Amino acid sequence: MIRLTPAPTTGLHGQLTVPGDKSISHRALMFGAIAQGMTEIENFLDSDDVLHTMRIFQDLGVQITQTGTHVRIQGQGLEHFQAPNAPLDMGNSGTSTRLLMGLLSKQPFDMTIFGDGSLSQRPMQRVLAPLSQMGAQITLTDGDKLPGVIHANQALTGITYEMPMASAQVKSAIILAGMQAAGQTTIIEKLPSRDHTERMLRQFGGQIQADHGVITLSQQPTLMGQHVVVPADISSAAFFIVAALITPNSEITLKNVGINPTRDGVLRLLRRMGADLTLTHVNDGYEPTADITVRAQPLHGIQITAADIPSAVDEIPILALAATQAQGDTVISGAAELRVKETDRIATVVAELTKLGADIEALPDGMIIHGGTPLHGSNESTLLETHGDHRIGMMNAVAALIAHQDVVMTGEDAMSVSYPGFLADLMQVMR
Ligand code: S3P
Repeated sequence: MIRLTPAPTTGLHGQLTVPGDKSISHRALMFGAIAQGMTEIENFLDSDDVLHTMRIFQDLGVQITQTGTHVRIQGQGLEHFQAPNAPLDMGNSGTSTRLLMGLLSKQPFDMTIFGDGSLSQRPMQRVLAPLSQMGAQITLTDGDKLPGVIHANQALTGITYEMPMASAQVKSAIILAGMQAAGQTTIIEKLPSRDHTERMLRQFGGQIQADHGVITLSQQPTLMGQHVVVPADISSAAFFIVAALITPNSEITLKNVGINPTRDGVLRLLRRMGADLTLTHVNDGYEPTADITVRAQPLHGIQITAADIPSAVDEIPILALAATQAQGDTVISGAAELRVKETDRIATVVAELTKLGADIEALPDGMIIHGGTPLHGSNESTLLETHGDHRIGMMNAVAALIAHQDVVMTGEDAMSVSYPGFLADLMQVMR
């Protein structure tokens, strides 16, 4: 249990580089492991979720060394993994599970996969369905849940698959299997999901086409080890951006943040709410980055609809907190995917912000937030909880900055899934 204190009246100040992007760190490990030769990763995210992916490749016999945020992988291609001695532990990580189901779907040995309590409740049939069509031999509990077994399999065939939901995890699983499949694989997306897999495949020398929501690829040439520099995670930066917007007298600069247009929806939505965000040092690489400067300022409510969700899916909790401080109502719809994240984030956002006095209602696929409500602190009888969800924990900690008394929260360990030093970094900008 921890006690969180309100921000000083002078606000939040300073420059901060938040840790490396979680989605990109997972993918850098995966491509490094299947490429030939040495891959070096800089600014790697050293967090629980990504370390599960790393340990899985080590269990499969890949040589990986980590020194802080620097990682070296001695890749040997897809055909030299060793059968693991024990079941593969996915921890809390949906990205590890779903992407590795695709990546490991053509190996000559069986692998048992399992995860923690939260991950074992999350739907996996969405990945199983296309992979089974491609010829993967995967069995899951009740056809949908972990634990499961990725069975030995000799062949995959390309398919054409229309995505039933916007999900980069499902899309990436199909791409990672499609790279090993006979014939062409085509994926049709109604709304674009994050494209880190496509970008990194190209960086490693692979070929993939993307044109107006139609993604095509075939079996890939040998991928070669690369030097990958991971941008700071916009999903982590978002907590500080909103913290500075809603805490009077604040001004913060977040350095080197990934602004891939399939990920930066939070910036667009905050601008629609009236935020003036300044981007400097904009850099175009395989993944574009920028420094983002933000000051405390008034916001107003907006309508957030299905088309806005994929590029901001992980930022809805912190956007909901921003909306509690905006003038007028914010209505979020088309966001049913939030119900199958690390927690049911519609339920957990509403539960936690309500404890602090926010006026917020759950909808089946979103929420309505009546803005302009001051937040009050909690006492021992209204304990805040992370519910085991890192992003709910960080949302609570930012809410505590503007609460009028101290706030007590349990389950703080969950934050290490994506941001182990979050509270220390928050303290740094409170000084
Ligand atoms: C991720 C995709 C998103 C996101 C998750 C990471 C990824 O999930 O919520 O935190 O790295 O591909 P979905 O693809 O299920 O929407």
